[in-house]
Amino acid sequence: MNREALQDKDALRILRKRRLEGRAMEERLDAKNIGLRGVKVADTRISDVNGEKGILIYRGYNAIDLARASTYEEVAFLLLYDHLPARSDLERFRSELASEWEVPGVLVELMKMMPKSAHPMDILQTAIPILASYDPQLHEETKEANYKKAVRLIARMPMLVAAWDRIRKGLEPLHPHPDLTHAGNFLYMLNGATPDPETAREFDICLILHAEHSFNASTFAGREVASTHAHMYASINAAMAALSGELHGGANSEVMKMLLEIKEEDQVKPWVAAKLQKGGKIMGMGHAVYRTEDPRATVLRQICENLSKRGGDAKWCKLTKAIEAATQKEFKRLKGKEIYPNVDFYSASVYHQMGIPRDLFTPVFAISRMSGWAAHIIEEKFAEAQSKPELYRPDSDYIGMYCGPEACEYVPIERRSA
Ligand SMILES: CC(C)(COP(=O)(O)OP(=O)(O)OC[C@H]1O[C@@H](n2cnc3c(N)ncnc32)[C@H](O)[C@@H]1OP(=O)(O)O)[C@@H](O)C(=O)NCCC(=O)NCCS
Repeated sequence: MNREALQDKDALRILRKRRLEGRAMEERLDAKNIGLRGVKVADTRISDVNGEKGILIYRGYNAIDLARASTYEEVAFLLLYDHLPARSDLERFRSELASEWEVPGVLVELMKMMPKSAHPMDILQTAIPILASYDPQLHEETKEANYKKAVRLIARMPMLVAAWDRIRKGLEPLHPHPDLTHAGNFLYMLNGATPDPETAREFDICLILHAEHSFNASTFAGREVASTHAHMYASINAAMAALSGELHGGANSEVMKMLLEIKEEDQVKPWVAAKLQKGGKIMGMGHAVYRTEDPRATVLRQICENLSKRGGDAKWCKLTKAIEAATQKEFKRLKGKEIYPNVDFYSASVYHQMGIPRDLFTPVFAISRMSGWAAHIIEEKFAEAQSKPELYRPDSDYIGMYCGPEACEYVPIERRSA
């Protein structure tokens, strides 16, 4: 870089520092201990959640319209490339995904050595760095290379999750079927049978509905790590770890646990009342952003009913609806407020009816959210929505020990009292 360019770069850096300092002085926010609720940390062009109206937008399109009319592959393309694909784009994207479907054999062998009791989310968090070490473009930080990494990650998720389920059951993993979609392939590789077209389509809709949700905990974790210039796989693994928690992606599996525990409809009211009166949480209910029904829950409730009508076990859907009604009534009585189901509430009974084991519900969320995470990581890395990428670095107030104006005096261990 020549001297002039260097000087320009320095001047820019100083200007930016002053701008930030000025802003920090003028707009210093006391946003402590509120879990960053309502604090805007960045711009994004990827999605928008209107919590008051219950509207979810992916790249300008209503997610519910996309769920009704498009496919997961089309939505993944939209999230990554910021426009709906033309037919030829979609065909190219599909074959690109298909060429990356297979999980490296060495990873399958490694999974066979893992304890069968391992949680599938822990298996995923073990698998992602292994996939990283087999990516020929791992440290290539061009936008093009990051798109390739995103495609590899999205493509491999169905086989990864299904393979682990089969391995822990002592079965050989199945290979993806060239005639099936992303959604259909997962169900096929999991259950060992081609799903009926209605179920495959309904699972496709589930994947669309879970694909993206702005700055939720996992996406923010992924972006935060990407802001340090860590690579795509490291950023994805941070997102994956955040998703595993029961207040985020782990909630769908907790909903199923609750359904299995309550068992009968006549047990719903006392169970819910006791839980809420003790200050407990009803999993799948409530949302940090939506102040009305989560629009995804509306679609999932319908899918739940469709599955029941087509021969699924209607008990689960009925039980879920009864819990929804009881929670709303008891919550209103106790807190004087409304509460609505979120995306996880009905997905539990939907996945259960599709034959998906309970501890795979969160990995299924990860299969879908991979496209949203990857889009956000690329946006963060290439500053597509901001003028310049900034390393996230929040502040805190130290309320620990100080011992005077400076610091505590260090006392050697032999002179310390017990
Ligand atoms: C998602 C969640 C963490 C959002 O929490 P939040 O941002 O604090 O939500 P709100 O501000 O609307 O909460 C208002 C009150 O309702 C309570 N509340 C919210 N969801 C509740 C639930 N599912 N069960 C019982 N109480 C709940 C909160 O504890 C809070 O109580 P307080 O006023 O006494 O402190 C919360 O609703 C929750 O834990 N839900 C269950 C887990 C879940 O389904 N997670 C998946 C989210 S997609």
